[in-house]
Amino acid sequence: MNIVVGITGGIAAYKAVGVIRSLVLEGHSVQVIATEHALRFVGKPTLEALSRNTVHSDLYEGVSEVRHVAIGQAADLIVIAPTTANTLAKLAAGIADDLLGNTVLATTAPILLAPAMHTEMWQNAATVSNVATLRARGFRFVGPTRGQLTGTDSGVGRMAEPDEIVAAALGIITAREPGEPGLSEPGRDLEGLRILISAGGTREPLDPVRFIGNRSSGRQGVALADAAVSRGAEVTFIGAHLEVEPPRGATIHSVETAEELRVELLALLPETDLVIMAAAVADYRPRTVSEGKIKKDVTGDVLTLELVKNPDILAELAAMKAGHQVVVGFAAETATTEGELLSLGRAKIARKRCDYLVLNRVGWTEGFATEGNTIVVLDHDGHIVIEAEGTKLSVAHSILTAVSTRTPTEIAVEPPGAP
Ligand code: CTP
Repeated sequence: MNIVVGITGGIAAYKAVGVIRSLVLEGHSVQVIATEHALRFVGKPTLEALSRNTVHSDLYEGVSEVRHVAIGQAADLIVIAPTTANTLAKLAAGIADDLLGNTVLATTAPILLAPAMHTEMWQNAATVSNVATLRARGFRFVGPTRGQLTGTDSGVGRMAEPDEIVAAALGIITAREPGEPGLSEPGRDLEGLRILISAGGTREPLDPVRFIGNRSSGRQGVALADAAVSRGAEVTFIGAHLEVEPPRGATIHSVETAEELRVELLALLPETDLVIMAAAVADYRPRTVSEGKIKKDVTGDVLTLELVKNPDILAELAAMKAGHQVVVGFAAETATTEGELLSLGRAKIARKRCDYLVLNRVGWTEGFATEGNTIVVLDHDGHIVIEAEGTKLSVAHSILTAVSTRTPTEIAVEPPGAP
């Protein structure tokens, strides 16, 4: 996709660098238009190196290419980060006294604004009215959020974090991908869908200070929740020991053990349309949990632990779900070949009888605590629905698109061989 990133003159311009970098890493072509004021905050060479394109600023350069309209005409999406109070006012009035203003007037692409300013400016009646005008015209907004501002003050007005801006941008793009059915409003294609996501890794206590756990960081589950929120879904997120911040805009529950996760999921299932089990659930738990700390002088040189199997929550959810509900499992496998990975995945979905299984390969260096991911989504017959590779956020968008496109009637069809 061809994304124009507009940068206007606020201190948050330095954070726009992160937005450009992520969009390029996602594989998009990024054209940067920086206003003159923006270039006082961040240098052209930085923007050019990261966007891998010439940065445009001057309205009177490239006149022979009719650049003042060409960039806007070619854009699939325009993101303006930061959007200052001054820029909001100019956009609301349709002023085109610089290259960015001309580009915005010349485009039919969706426009995402990430405002950044001091609280007083954001709450000023002029800004409030400009934002209302722009929203009514179909401009999308991400942020501002509440937090530390440039000076010693804090409040509403802080620009959304680059990750959040990128999630919102990718949400708009994914929803606009050609051939996608049933989109009412681009960017909000999951509106009305209630999604329940589990993420992280459960821990099974041995005693008050020790547990049996796993290496799941929760990143892919958080990315799924971020992506779903940005596409308008109502998201409930159950986190078990996340290494990352929980998603914003979702209802958050925290659990420790597999049994606690099971209780939460079963209670929330009736109010859910789509369940995604990204959590790594401990397969076994210690038969007994010691009241006090296990001591070496008591246990001696060899300690034997007796473990009992935990219930398979995914299989339970798949067996309990109503016809309109969709249950998605994850399978992290240490396969050595693609063929082995697929056959392990097919055996697993046949066993667990969920609607979809997201398969990925893991190892000592793959899959956990990393920024990227490579996945295959299988349907309940073991057919490949999609394959995706990229950041966990872009993979999240692909997964959501794959598992949310079937209509409830299609979902109601029982998998062959189901009891
Ligand atoms: N899962 C679950 N309850 C369990 C174990 C796993 O709900 N007790 C879910 C996970 O959340 C994931 C899927 O099942 O969505 C697959 O998890 P995985 O650990 O790969 O499968 P296992 O059942 O442990 O199968 P195996 O031991 O053969 O790898």
